[in-house]
Amino acid sequence: MASNTLNESKQLATWYFTFAFILFGAQLLFGLVAATQFVMPGFLFEILDFSVARTLHINALVVWMVFAMFGSVYWLLPDETGINTIGIKMGKLLYWVFVAAIAVVVLVYIFVQVGPADQTTIWFIMEGREYIEAPRWADIGIVVVALGFVANLFLTGMKGKQTGIVTVLMADMIAFAGLYLAGMFFTDNISVDQYWWWWVIHLWVEATWEVFVGAIAAYGLITMIGAHRKVVEMWLWIEVAMLFGSGILGMGHHYFWIGTPEYWWEIGALFSALEPIPLVAMFVHVLYDWGKTQGAEEEAGNPASVINNKPAFTWFVLNAFGNFLGAGIWGFFHTLPQVNLYTHGTQFTSAHGHLAFFGAYATILIGMMYIAVQGKNNIKVLKNTKSSIWAVSMIAGGVMGMTVALTIAGYVQVLVSRAQMGATWAGYFDGQEGMWFAQGMDWRLIMGLVTFLGFALLAKDLLTTGKNPVHER
Ligand code: HEM
Ligand code: HEM
Ligand SMILES: [Fe+2]
Repeated sequence: MASNTLNESKQLATWYFTFAFILFGAQLLFGLVAATQFVMPGFLFEILDFSVARTLHINALVVWMVFAMFGSVYWLLPDETGINTIGIKMGKLLYWVFVAAIAVVVLVYIFVQVGPADQTTIWFIMEGREYIEAPRWADIGIVVVALGFVANLFLTGMKGKQTGIVTVLMADMIAFAGLYLAGMFFTDNISVDQYWWWWVIHLWVEATWEVFVGAIAAYGLITMIGAHRKVVEMWLWIEVAMLFGSGILGMGHHYFWIGTPEYWWEIGALFSALEPIPLVAMFVHVLYDWGKTQGAEEEAGNPASVINNKPAFTWFVLNAFGNFLGAGIWGFFHTLPQVNLYTHGTQFTSAHGHLAFFGAYATILIGMMYIAVQGKNNIKVLKNTKSSIWAVSMIAGGVMGMTVALTIAGYVQVLVSRAQMGATWAGYFDGQEGMWFAQGMDWRLIMGLVTFLGFALLAKDLLTTGKNPVHER
């Protein structure tokens, strides 16, 4: 019954979330294949080699997050602007174009895998830029879909109420879509190619995606705990200024050793070292508003009504912690050139990559999925269930476990391969043969399995919420 009355924009959002969730599952499965290959190198040899499993793992990661981000915007637009989303028919059509393009890309990755080093491969198989390997025909399709999405957001935002959240999202999403273009052209100089590639990867995750998270956190706080818009949006503007202020030039921390001029050492060191500050602000923002709202409700004598979606709120709080830990702490660790000289490209990088992507993005996007499930099923207060609690504990515990295992493995590489053996070919292998490194890889696989079981529980919980009688309607 409820889904019939669901606003069309919100309905489209649930489609986006559904496909995102499926890709999230695929991401984890291919991660498990890649992790197994570290432990048993012959696993699926010449059927699904490590390079292919890895490509699938990280591309699925990026794409599911983009789907869930589009979904989040379509979800909150009618609430924020007070009007129906404009261009929703085109939005729905573009959704199917997007899904079809991604499905074809994945099938080609799995069944064709590689091609000769020429233009046909770039156009039809893959471009070979980590995280955004999609072939050029799909790139163009993605640009069209993104433009349609941005158009809907702008048309709706300009006609409806312009809250701070919508204004920030409008500016942010146009930058987000525009940056994708930097990863689409080919140059035969690897330094030039990497230089531009980072415009997509770094400026996405450390500038535009973080700003997106700020806006979503603001929306979530207003929706779930009734935080005051004025306070929340004041924080949002401060965070946006600090995120862009440090994140844009912080890109220098990827220009230390790729053939770019040496002045990037100083620029990268200074600005990227400032990047954790807005992350602290975002952390404080969530906890402060939570405490403040609760205090005000308690004074008014109704403490029970504070949080109307417990699982979503749990994931949002986890986001504040995870963003700070994964991006702020694990990122800061290796961001100075003096340290990065030793840690660059080790498992330490992978430890940071996992905790940051999970902490900063997976958490809040899962939170938005819970908000959507609540809205779709017309639930007044969504409570935690056994499976929602086990899911969040196993996923967060699993990812944290993988991070610790990878950090230890990275430490061995830094000490043995880099410090002791001077980054030589022999040192590379000596580092990987150490007992602590090997055990790190075993533990990553074990903790990956824990994460996957948590994911299965999360799927179960999200799918059964509509029928579960514990929630207040
Ligand atoms: C949510 C935000 C962030 C995400 C999702 C993220 C993710 C990643 C990923 C996946 C990589 C590996 C890229 C590759 O494959 O080469 C990476 C590298 C790196 N990140 Fe982050 N990061 C974030 C924020 C930060 C912050 C705030 C800092 C510093 C304060 C930082 C410092 C670095 C550095 C220095 C590298 C290069 C590592 C190397 O030399 O091997 N990151 N990041
Ligand atoms: C079932 C759980 C998972 C397993 C077993 C797993 C395993 C792996 C493996 C084996 C790699 C390749 C590492 C290498 O090249 O040395 C990888 C890379 C990566 N994974 Fe996962 N992963 C899992 C979950 C996740 C999650 C939840 C996220 C983020 C939300 C994530 C983000 C990444 C990223 C960003 C990279 C690239 C790291 C880099 O280039 O430094 N993975 N993963
Ligand atoms: Fe970066």
